[in-house]
Amino acid sequence: MTQSENSYAFIQACRRQETEYTPIWLMRQAGRYMKEYRSLRKKHSFLEMCKTPGLAAEVTLQPVEKLKVDAAIIFSDILLPLEPMGIKLEFAKNEGPVFRNPIRRRDQVDHLRVIEAEEDLPFLMEAIRIVRRELEGRVPLIGFSGAPFTLASYIIEGGHSKNYILTKTMMYQDPATWKFLLEKLSQTLVRYLNAQIHSGAQALQIFDSWVGCLSPSDYENYVMPYSRKVLEGVEKTVPLIHFATSSSTLLKLMKRAGGDVIGVDWRVDLGAAWADIGYDRAIQGNLDPVILTVSIESMKKEVERILKSTQGRPGHIFNLGHGVLPETRVDNVIALVDMVHECSSRIKSQR
Ligand code: CP3
Repeated sequence: MTQSENSYAFIQACRRQETEYTPIWLMRQAGRYMKEYRSLRKKHSFLEMCKTPGLAAEVTLQPVEKLKVDAAIIFSDILLPLEPMGIKLEFAKNEGPVFRNPIRRRDQVDHLRVIEAEEDLPFLMEAIRIVRRELEGRVPLIGFSGAPFTLASYIIEGGHSKNYILTKTMMYQDPATWKFLLEKLSQTLVRYLNAQIHSGAQALQIFDSWVGCLSPSDYENYVMPYSRKVLEGVEKTVPLIHFATSSSTLLKLMKRAGGDVIGVDWRVDLGAAWADIGYDRAIQGNLDPVILTVSIESMKKEVERILKSTQGRPGHIFNLGHGVLPETRVDNVIALVDMVHECSSRIKSQR
């Protein structure tokens, strides 16, 4: 079954066109909660899996087959383009990502390279081409990157952070270095995202996972110009999803930075957030991932509440408010996809 580019429910919803049901995909839909993933992961490190196109393609397709989601997302990580910039990346056991050479001074930023995406990350581009071939048009493929702020926070802090003290210190105390670093990141991300489009990505998501630690005025002054550069620098041929968490006070500014779709987490009421952003953008979200670990009944209640809050308006893509947790039961995820399709068809047919 091959569909033309315009007949995918997911792409239509990104473009705010009418669909018969609300399309759904899940952040981190490939991962440790799935036994197929765990069995491959026993044999390979996470980075090995990302850098071997055949394996990355295989893992990308696992949730498509199993969950019947409306989109695939390429298996990779937001931190991978930092390596060819000159930052050594490690995934330490139970620690998450670690950078042994964090960037905190101007002379260190001077040494960072702006990447050549196809040459520096050929494995990702090849994985995208394989997935497109193997999908045979069943569902569209989403490419992605981190946003400049979220990536800057990782490379300045040297890993995950609680209070972003070093990141904010650079931002406030050394704005020239901050600016230089965010410029280099933005240029890298534009190349990285455009290369994914050229390889076959049919939509893109920009993850600003940790930007919710900023006040609106700091977001506007120190971050928005660079996020905008990225979102405006990407070719306009595919829909762009602009996602952040804990971002209820930043939604209007995120919209100004760009994106056809704004991704929101569960801390906001989706209907109210959409009204706040404006109906000239599509919206994505926002089930609390924890609910998937609780029970089918609590899930059902929340799914209905979220779908009703959109009043069946075209332009909603169902997703979690953040990634699927490793503790999640696959059966609950399968039930969720089914439930969203069924319940949204009912609401839309009554509209
Ligand atoms: O969504 C998908 O299915 C595609 C794959 C994907 C991964 N990471 C795979 C992954 C995507 C879209 C990401 C994005 C990502 N990576 C983000 C933004 C989204 C978010 O969660 O906020 C961030 C902040 C990262 C950085 C990162 N990668 C962290 C903090 C960790 C460790 C925490 C964890 O969950 O293990 C990773 C590792 C990672 N990225 C795993 C996967 C499947 C787990 C690796 C393993 O098997 O051990």
